[in-house]
Amino acid sequence: MDADAIVLAAGDGKRLKSRLPKVLHHAAGRPLLGHVIAALAPLPLRRRVVVVSPRRDEIVAGLGGLADGIDFVVQEVPRGTGDAVRVGLDGIEEGAVLVTPGDTPLFETETLGALLEAHAASGAGATVLTADMPDPTGYGRVIRSGGDSIDRIVEHRDASPAELEVREINAGVYAFDVVLLREALGRIGTDNAQGEHYLGDVLGPIAASGRPVMAFKTGHEEVPGVNSRAQLAEAAAALRRRVALGWMSEGVTIVDPATTYIDAGVTIAADATILPFTFLEGTTTIGAGAEVGPQTRVVDSTIEEGASVTFSVVRGSSIGPGASVGPYASLRPGTRLERGARAGTFVETKNTTIGEGSKANHLAYLGDAEIGRGANVGAGSITCNWDGRDKHKTLIEDEAYIGSDTMLVAPVRVGKRAATGAGSVVRGEVPDEALAVGVPARIIEGKGNRMEPKEPRT
Ligand code: UD1
Ligand code: CA
Repeated sequence: MDADAIVLAAGDGKRLKSRLPKVLHHAAGRPLLGHVIAALAPLPLRRRVVVVSPRRDEIVAGLGGLADGIDFVVQEVPRGTGDAVRVGLDGIEEGAVLVTPGDTPLFETETLGALLEAHAASGAGATVLTADMPDPTGYGRVIRSGGDSIDRIVEHRDASPAELEVREINAGVYAFDVVLLREALGRIGTDNAQGEHYLGDVLGPIAASGRPVMAFKTGHEEVPGVNSRAQLAEAAAALRRRVALGWMSEGVTIVDPATTYIDAGVTIAADATILPFTFLEGTTTIGAGAEVGPQTRVVDSTIEEGASVTFSVVRGSSIGPGASVGPYASLRPGTRLERGARAGTFVETKNTTIGEGSKANHLAYLGDAEIGRGANVGAGSITCNWDGRDKHKTLIEDEAYIGSDTMLVAPVRVGKRAATGAGSVVRGEVPDEALAVGVPARIIEGKGNRMEPKEPRT
């Protein structure tokens, strides 16, 4: 396909009343412009040009990895969509060009591809994506000249009462012959309600060149653009519905899609269950058979097969197979729960590994800690990892038993099958199999964890 793409993202977005550029406002975990770029990504396009305001660097940064492979060009002053396309055409010489707005996050790849194909097949000079909107307020109206041919587009603010009755609108997406487009852009003026160069005004000059100007009609669901905060919320809700439906069709149980918020960058394996009031954000991945929620927020984390997380907040963490979290746990970045481990009620962790089968069942803070296998951390125990200046590490070795309300003053190591007494304040080193009791703790050799391991040691 000999086509380039131009995305228009340089408008000032006044109607959002925001300090953030409009196209960086997020819906379903991605900037509006990011959704447009992602929809274009699978198409076999030559150049992908995004026309941005002089706040270019901010926009590129806000897109993160989605900016890869994109050419950004700056429209110094937002003189209208026609002017923005003129700027974007710099360096594009011939063939077809697909033009889309940057504030319409709902267009799907298939629709954009179908428009380009219809354009190529018909030999039109311009093909305009249109839709019959239940409420066309605010959109440019499509005035047809018979059959699939378009006479012109009239903007809402310039339309006559009769034209306002037209429900077929300009979706803002077009395929053009580049040579005809460039020529037509030189002929359009600013004699309209907004004093801007309207892109839709090129259709007259293109038709006058003898090549047809065609409408390509699609469903209205993908069309809504975001010009206000209310429209942002509506578009986000539509994206969320689409994401949830997609995962359900892949075999994921989502008990209540209406109260489940899954970002576009999340992946979920079949037979996972997502319970109501749950937020899966960023680059989170959920494994097969895992159960997440209700009332849980998971950000940039991995939840492996068969793990469960309930009424909790998990950020930048990884939860191993069959591990369990919550209710009311807060796992902060750098937490790793190995297979079958548990961070239970009112447990907070940070930069901590809880080894296979180890448990902190209730009321604990574990920061900068390394916990081996089969260990138990009693209620009320914490790592005192911060001495007012620096962070220090706590090591809890395999099958150690941390008694209730132990203060582990880091740097500290509790050896294998060692134990600490209730209320002890422990620093330094508790040797393997020893017991530490009291404040400050005394060491009693050989009196460590006397409990039989739950499973025979291998
Ligand atoms: C535009 C169309 C309208 C269509 C609607 C579909 C025009 C004049 N109107 O209206 O017919 O029904 O989209 O969503 O084209 N932009 C620039 N530079 C500018 C002005 C705008 O890059 O100088 C960008 C904006 O960032 C935005 C896009 O172009 O992403 C559309 O501009 P916007 O002001 O949102 O136009 P609408 O009023 O929505
Ligand atoms: Ca718009």
